[in-house]
Amino acid sequence: MRNLFSKTLAITAVAALALAASACSSERGGDSGGKTPAKGFAADGLIGVALPSKTSENWVLAGDLFTNGLKEAGFKSDVQYAGASTTVADQQGQISAMVTKGAKVIVIGATDAAQLSTQVKQAKEAGAVVIAYDRLLTNTPDIDYYVAFDNFKVGQLQGQALLDGMKAKKPTGPWTVELFSGSPDDNNSAVFFNGAMEVLKPLIAKGDVVVGSGQTDVKQTAIQGWKAENAQQRMDSLLTSTYGSGKTLDGVLSPNDTLARAILTSVKGAGKALPVVTGQDSEAESVKSIMAGQQYSTINKDTRKLVAETIKMVKALQAGGTPDINDTKSYNNGVKIVPSYLLPPVIVTKANAAEAYANDPKLSPLTK
Ligand code: BGC
Repeated sequence: MRNLFSKTLAITAVAALALAASACSSERGGDSGGKTPAKGFAADGLIGVALPSKTSENWVLAGDLFTNGLKEAGFKSDVQYAGASTTVADQQGQISAMVTKGAKVIVIGATDAAQLSTQVKQAKEAGAVVIAYDRLLTNTPDIDYYVAFDNFKVGQLQGQALLDGMKAKKPTGPWTVELFSGSPDDNNSAVFFNGAMEVLKPLIAKGDVVVGSGQTDVKQTAIQGWKAENAQQRMDSLLTSTYGSGKTLDGVLSPNDTLARAILTSVKGAGKALPVVTGQDSEAESVKSIMAGQQYSTINKDTRKLVAETIKMVKALQAGGTPDINDTKSYNNGVKIVPSYLLPPVIVTKANAAEAYANDPKLSPLTK
């Protein structure tokens, strides 16, 4: 997982932290890893879980898995989702309420990485442990742990899949592509994009990969709220502005499955040949699309494993121990390096879908 890119960031981040604790960027990098003192609490203590709105299937699954898993482990739980529109205010209120109810651990899948500082400060002051789940919380010292799939690796796998898919269709370049990224308020979005760009940039520099619209900056490619309709709209306008004259679009970097399907819908609507489109999350509809030869790839981030790992952390804290972490370098939230447990993501195409989902009773039948 280490590479020159992240090492450079690491050095930069350490220097930045040494110079100014007020640094305000969040990126992979750094090298330290403060630990929360062990506390321990009642075996049936309350665990708060604040999830974002249900912008993809993984969040829906996570809610059920937390409710059942925490109950099975003997804890009381309070699992909440931010609403569909007033997401930030909803989540802020939910976290404050969890603190008031005496939650011992608060697990947060942030709807907006940078807007929860006040609430996590309250949590810390009340003695709760804060775990960021899947999405990092930025610009706050009051976060203890981060548990996620390796987001940078997700981006690298997406960038490589885009290239592989295009090469399989058209062995020699140049290949014309468009780039999409996730919601700017989600810290993962830039990490996914940077991972993919680490793979694509050298080819763009050589002219082997051409971004038809010229829109290569993460800000230009962002899809607010991870909303399908926003992705479809951007693809519609790219098709009109850049591909109206019959120019071929070979591939689209899409950060997740919801957006991938919206991009494909747009291309179909315009009556164009389908480009190679990447994705993430292994949503059932996208697995079907991959098997039908439409969407090219997705990423398997098994939510069952991520929730299980988080509950394992909660159990360790309950017992007064320190949760397992396997990364103390990669996630600088702008104030500190957050001790993390990172799981490995898996790239899935039609070629390995049956194998990748063999242990998933919901997805495995779709690959037969
Ligand atoms: C998650 C992705 C998901 C996206 C939209 C990200 O933070 O890591 O798995 O597709 O949010 O819900």
